[in-house]
Amino acid sequence: MENGFFITFEGADGSGKTTQLNNIKTFLQEKGFDVVTTFEPGATKTGEKIRNILLHSEDSVADSCEMFLFLADRAQHVEMFIKPALKQGKIVLCDRHTDSTIAYQGYGRGQNVELLKKLNQIAVNGLSPDLTLLFDVSTEIAQDRVGKDKDRMEAAGIEFHKKVRNGYLELLKENPERIKLINANNSIETVYNETKDIILNLVTNKRGKTNA
Ligand code: TYD
Repeated sequence: MENGFFITFEGADGSGKTTQLNNIKTFLQEKGFDVVTTFEPGATKTGEKIRNILLHSEDSVADSCEMFLFLADRAQHVEMFIKPALKQGKIVLCDRHTDSTIAYQGYGRGQNVELLKKLNQIAVNGLSPDLTLLFDVSTEIAQDRVGKDKDRMEAAGIEFHKKVRNGYLELLKENPERIKLINANNSIETVYNETKDIILNLVTNKRGKTNA
């Protein structure tokens, strides 16, 4: 459908995925690719307001409200930012997307996973990542990296975050073609080299096919 390439970065808070995303952006740009980075929640003007509620609400947020807000942010982001960028042929590197909702709201909060998959389909309206990188890290290491200054989601507790990690690993089993596992317990440099190889391989293959 689109000409660009859509890559999502997934994993726990404290998995180091954002650092990797930024390094990969620089690497791909140096190779001459047209790359943009983005994130969920909060990359659009409307999304910024949603993000503020999600991460910094002063009163408690009902689980179903949280779920709809993440999905609403995604719907806006996909239509207003991701699809237009892909139509222009860009490589879009996105920090979190549909799998975050399954892992956090589904496995973490206990919302119905099958229903969430359907709601995700409405939010993305036909879009699907060409590749998802799952930065898997032990929950203890991840929580240490996050430190003491936590937002509402980060402060949800170790049991919650263990369920989230388990959710991601279930998604990996279900989608072995799309999702690639990266051991994010390793050093930033080791993780970077692994990430770079996977992405370069896929992007080069796809460009090769397009030009053939
Ligand atoms: P953010 O500061 O963007 O964290 P990170 O750098 O870890 O991506 O915060 C986003 C938080 O929202 C993070 O704790 C994961 C959570 N989240 C969900 O629970 N569901 C979702 O669908 C998305 C996109 C994020």
